[in-house]
Parts: sequence; C-alpha cells; structure tokens
Amino acid sequence: MKRTVTSLALASLVVSTVAFAQPAANQKHAEWATKVRKANFTLLGHNMGPLGGMLKGKVPFNAEVVQEKATNINHLANMIADTSKVDTSKFNVETEALNGIWTEQDDYAEKIKALVMASERVSKIALTGSEAEVKKAMGQIGKACGSCHDSYKKD
Ligand code: HEC
Repeated sequence: MKRTVTSLALASLVVSTVAFAQPAANQKHAEWATKVRKANFTLLGHNMGPLGGMLKGKVPFNAEVVQEKATNINHLANMIADTSKVDTSKFNVETEALNGIWTEQDDYAEKIKALVMASERVSKIALTGSEAEVKKAMGQIGKACGSCHDSYKKD
C-alpha cells in the first residue's frame, strides 16, 4: 500500500514538471525565450519604480498611480510562469536566471504566487485604504520580488 502511494506521488510530480518546463529547441529559440522572459521582468521593474519611490519617500504618495501600477504588476506576475517556461540552461544566452527556475519548479511557482497575491491586495485596497496600510501592502510586493531574486537571479 505504502509503495503504491509513493509511486502515485512520484507520477504526479513528473506530470507537473513536464507541464511547466520545456527545453529550448535550438539556439535561436533559446535567445527568443530569454528575450521574452527578460521583457516580463523589465516591465515589472518599470511598474515597480514609482511604488519604490513612494516607499522611499522620494515621490509623493498617489493612490491612483499605486492602483494602476499594482494592477499592471498583477497582470505581469500572472505571465511569469508562461514567460519562464522555456528552459534555456543548455544554451549560451545572456541571462541572470539561475537554473533553479527549471529544477525547483514548485518553489518557483510559490514565489510567483506570492507576487500575484501581494499585487492583488495592493490593487484592491489602493483607493480605499489609509496611506500607511497601502504602503505596508506595497512593501509586501517588494518582498516578493526580493525573495525570488535571492533564490533564482544572479547578483
Ligand atoms: C518568481 C521569481 C521572480 C519574481 C517574483 C520577480 N523576479 Fe525579477 N527576475 C527574476 C529572474 C529569474 C530574473 C533574471 C531573468 C533573466 O536574466 O533571464 C529577473 C530579472 C529582473 C530584472 C532584470 C530584467 C532584465 O532585463 O534583465 C528586473 C528589473 C526585475 N527582475 C525586477 C523585478 C521586480 C520589480 C519584481 C517584483 C515586482 C520582480 N522582478 C519579481 C525572477 C523574479
């Protein structure tokens, strides 16, 4: 009985792994996939900029801007699984991504989820919450970015 349970668990693990990572077919495909992956993160950085400025007190707090950027971040976060799915590790591409993206997929998915949830919360409360409350939630977005970078991005 125990044996059956173990092999079933292994089988589902293999299935979920196959569903996410897909090895790049050739150098050209790897280069394109890297470009797409980086574009997703570049846009995350672009949308996070004003929020970071507000958190540091360099830019005045503006609830409408927070709402717009957090909503964009939420959409972009929902794209990461797709834009990271091509495994480019066997090819010579210019990237800061660590191979764990494709070998630790469950954990990578958790990090994505943390950003999806943090950005969703900010986008929901931006127009109704107090500045302190919204800023606290914005801090959680920053934490979600940092936590994934700590594990999956070269310094
Ligand atoms: C689930 C993991 C993960 C999350 C969450 C994440 N990042 Fe990243 N980020 C990466 C990885 C991996 C790279 C390296 C991509 C590459 O070079 O192929 C990266 C690269 C970047 C880059 C450089 C892009 C480029 O053109 O080379 C920026 C800017 C960035 N992230 C900003 C952010 C911001 C801002 C957030 C949060 C709003 C965020 N990231 C959330 C994993 C993540």
